[in-house]
Amino acid sequence: MREDEARIELKRLSVEIARHDKAYHKNDSPLISDSEYDSLRRRYLNLEKGFSHLAPKDGPSTSVGYKSDTAFRKIQHTVPMLSLDNIFSDEGLNEFIMGVKRFLKELSNDASTELEMVAEPKIDGLSISLRYESGLFVSAATRGDGEVGEDVTENIKSLKEVPLSLKGIVPSIIEIRGEVYMSKNDFMELNANQKAHGNKIFANPRNAAAGSLRQLDPTITATRRLKMFFYAWGEFEGISWESQTEFYKYLKAWGFEVNPLMQKCDSAENLISAYKKISELRPELDYDIDGVVYKVNRLDWQKRLGFVSRAPRWAVAHKFPAEQVETVITEIDIQVGRTGSLTPVAKLIPVNVGGVLVSNATLHNEGEIQRKDIREGDTVLIQRAGDVIPQVVKVIVEKRPKETKAFNFPQFCPVCGSDAPRVENEAIRRCSGGASCNAQLVEKLRHFVSRGAFDIEGFGSRNAEIFFDKNLVLNLTDIFRLKNKRKVLEKLEGWGPKSTEKLLDAIESRRIISLDRFIFALGIRGIGRTNARLIASHYLTINSLRSLMIEAAVIGSEAREDLNNIDGIGPNLARDLIVFFNDPINTRLLDQFENLITINAHEVTNLVSSPISGKTIVFTGTLNTITRMEAKNSAEELGAKVSGSVSSKTDLVVIGDNAGSKAKKADDLGIKMISESEWIKLIE
Ligand code: IVH
Repeated sequence: MREDEARIELKRLSVEIARHDKAYHKNDSPLISDSEYDSLRRRYLNLEKGFSHLAPKDGPSTSVGYKSDTAFRKIQHTVPMLSLDNIFSDEGLNEFIMGVKRFLKELSNDASTELEMVAEPKIDGLSISLRYESGLFVSAATRGDGEVGEDVTENIKSLKEVPLSLKGIVPSIIEIRGEVYMSKNDFMELNANQKAHGNKIFANPRNAAAGSLRQLDPTITATRRLKMFFYAWGEFEGISWESQTEFYKYLKAWGFEVNPLMQKCDSAENLISAYKKISELRPELDYDIDGVVYKVNRLDWQKRLGFVSRAPRWAVAHKFPAEQVETVITEIDIQVGRTGSLTPVAKLIPVNVGGVLVSNATLHNEGEIQRKDIREGDTVLIQRAGDVIPQVVKVIVEKRPKETKAFNFPQFCPVCGSDAPRVENEAIRRCSGGASCNAQLVEKLRHFVSRGAFDIEGFGSRNAEIFFDKNLVLNLTDIFRLKNKRKVLEKLEGWGPKSTEKLLDAIESRRIISLDRFIFALGIRGIGRTNARLIASHYLTINSLRSLMIEAAVIGSEAREDLNNIDGIGPNLARDLIVFFNDPINTRLLDQFENLITINAHEVTNLVSSPISGKTIVFTGTLNTITRMEAKNSAEELGAKVSGSVSSKTDLVVIGDNAGSKAKKADDLGIKMISESEWIKLIE
């Protein structure tokens, strides 16, 4: 574009953007959609990059008043972004190492084979995945829920640590992952500046980094001096490496920052001394760290170890001990959960613990209160570890006021008044009110719209309560009928046509859902995301799940046996599932959903070329070259189901040494049997 054309186009765009800003912010009646608006801004910012000297002085990139709650564009991660399991002690580390050794047969048999690991600081920031194609930076995404993140490409570009092109050997595709953080100094400076201008103060550098990155206007991000360390990869093509440390060499050669405290360790003792060294250095570092990450160095072992749920088996985070602070319990409140559990919560005089203001702490259950003799009015020591809910460590008895009384745990639900008996073998009391208890209904609703479930943007925990109180959403299916209540919604306090429209759009966009999310969303006791996925991958469609759960109610039925055989579903979960799907209230609810939403059949991924996809496999006897755990893991990765017992549904039995009755039963039933070496050949 010529200069004179660019000047005119920049001016035209800036006038147009200003017009839309006014329509949106002042008049509350936007003239174009949010994405059209964002694309106008992007066009302006791109042009401005090439012709910065021609940009109008008061142009959109200088206006910080632009605030939109528009969601960022979504980016699907081709390789999921995982989290890490936490350990809090040296024993935890030993257990982790033993777990790795138990999994890898060559290590479980031979103690002398070395398990090389790396130890490095766990940066307390937010993880980002950068994508490079032919060595050029193309996009950046936040972790999001691990599967889908937000597009922060423009924002990330301003970071000095993010090379726009890679140096040295350039792979055709590479995704580099790392942690964005704000240095402690920059954080202090930013907060001082925010305060001086009457703007929001950030609680800690992590929040400041997150807030600075998630700016719809990337020019604001650019002023915030964010930094990055890199430590992982996603999709890659045209290159390979054999170890974590070799990958780090590539990272450095390409121009990425690797944390200088990273070190190789060949024993548990060395890992512990690396942990000690990093803990000692912690106060001097100019960035926050919240632990040390240990990773198995060899890549072939990483691959074989694979993942459990959302965390690798080959890495773990050793978290620093929680900070402990004293405060006073003003009151003990009883909260009712979505399955009726009564949880005591201590209301506290707010205190700052590790940069976060804490005003509640969980007291777990009745027994915990009795054991620690926790009373209203007590001064207590509380702690917060990572993202977990703050806990009461102990009562400072010397500071107990004279007039306190032992806490009397209620035997009735504080919300609906139903009996709340202590269930046998359980530490908690449960409200027996079921669907007649409003607290349970609201909690179910909150869970249903939450991130891992239907993930309805703009619904939120507070709104769930308001919509319920105003009779707008009395059961889960009502969410999908909210569009008939548009006028009422618009008139709610703090709501208007625009916010109502946004919420209804968010609901519409969730009318199609995967089976595992749907199962999780139902809030069945004991069914978290992992179990929901397990059930979805076993039953594949909602209809087969429903009908087989009805059949499974009959003791001795094939469906009951099939459910009991799912590896990972114990007898209690099996019972809870059967109870849930046979309860007439739930059947009615599920019938209603049929007309309101589409529940997609479970997608069986990357199975196209697997000879065992969809098959049910039983392992029996002692395996020689791989452990039972590794065998199960690779079978599941290739799309097979692993069952604990042989039945007419079994497709294949893998026979190890000294196989007994299962081999005989398979033989009687005429089921195909193969040896361990045939199995290895098959999966290779
Ligand atoms: S490795 C597949 N290394 O901690 C595992 N993560 O709590 C990839 N994190 O989601 C993660 N420092 O955002 C790894 N040195 C480090 C890290 C690190 C910080 C973050 C990361 C991860 C989270 C898990």
